[in-house]
Amino acid sequence: MTSKAQTLEGSEAWVPTTVPCTVRGVKRLTSKSVLVSFDPGPARPRFRYAPGQRVSFCLKLNDAMCFRSYNLINEVDALPQIAVKHVAQGGGSAFFNEKVQTGDVIQVVPPAGHLYDLDIDHKAHHILLFAAGSGITPLISVARHALKARPDHKVTLIYANSSPRDIMLQEALDEMAHSRRFEVFHVLGDGATGEDLSSGRLDRAKLHRLLVQYRIPSMPEAAFQSGPRGFMQLVDEVGQRQQVPLKTRRYSFMNQPLRHPEDTWLPELSSDVMVTLNGATRVIENVSRHRTLLEAADEAGLSMPANCRSGICHRCKAKLVSGFTVHNRQAAAGRRVPSGWILCCQNRPGSDRVEIDMG
Ligand code: FES
Repeated sequence: MTSKAQTLEGSEAWVPTTVPCTVRGVKRLTSKSVLVSFDPGPARPRFRYAPGQRVSFCLKLNDAMCFRSYNLINEVDALPQIAVKHVAQGGGSAFFNEKVQTGDVIQVVPPAGHLYDLDIDHKAHHILLFAAGSGITPLISVARHALKARPDHKVTLIYANSSPRDIMLQEALDEMAHSRRFEVFHVLGDGATGEDLSSGRLDRAKLHRLLVQYRIPSMPEAAFQSGPRGFMQLVDEVGQRQQVPLKTRRYSFMNQPLRHPEDTWLPELSSDVMVTLNGATRVIENVSRHRTLLEAADEAGLSMPANCRSGICHRCKAKLVSGFTVHNRQAAAGRRVPSGWILCCQNRPGSDRVEIDMG
């Protein structure tokens, strides 16, 4: 079930249905970040999430409704939790850091997105994670999942921050470090560790040395990174220059998947959608985030398999190769859609680029 709202131009725009959730706890992580737990009540099964997925909160900011999205970071069986760093110009981050209180009821769109390919769990891997600042939030769920998914996965996290005071989720990382299969290497800009490799700004030379030190040639690897743009460029650049190039899956936690029609803070959002169909790949550019993937294909003259257009027949099922989509409905009617797959008639693009494969 979805709802519509008037855009400033007067036409109707799609707005996803939200679930009312009660805030159960607000805990300060650092002077600039908080941990917020919330309870979806009977809708809790809809908040089971895959590594790297995020939820979107519908908040009233500056007298206008806005969507702001954050990664879920909770343990699988625990209440949904997000960690939010207060950033300049961040209306949502100010709301969570300064205003939200236990007992408040907030409106939340259930988890969406795809980051971790479950094929990784078919055999033991070395999972390499590169995070900077609040870029840890999508990656901590990848680490937790990997450690639980197989007893022979190994996880290494290289985590850059300005100072020890800025390390988010330190407690959770310390707890995970009890596992001999998890290792975290902190790089601190203020030089607090006093050691050469872990002190000062992470640069090409340091990252190269870290890769030489931490990569495990005997294990297949899967690498993920999340942080500010400059950090991700650095990881890409250094990774590509390795003797065996390192390919990382990038996660930009800065992009918002949803824009409320009342929101004047965010620009209009659109996505490029890459569709592989019958072995041929085509890119549909500038797809409005208010269109389903099937509608976008129709408009682009791409004949996508579809029948019911209402989430029942599954003819429009596609593998989500990369990116985020946001789905329409409260719950699947009938058959479940396997993890990592989506129905194109029920999903709208939620990241700058979405890649789907229909075979
Ligand atoms: S067209 Fe039937 S489920 Fe999408």
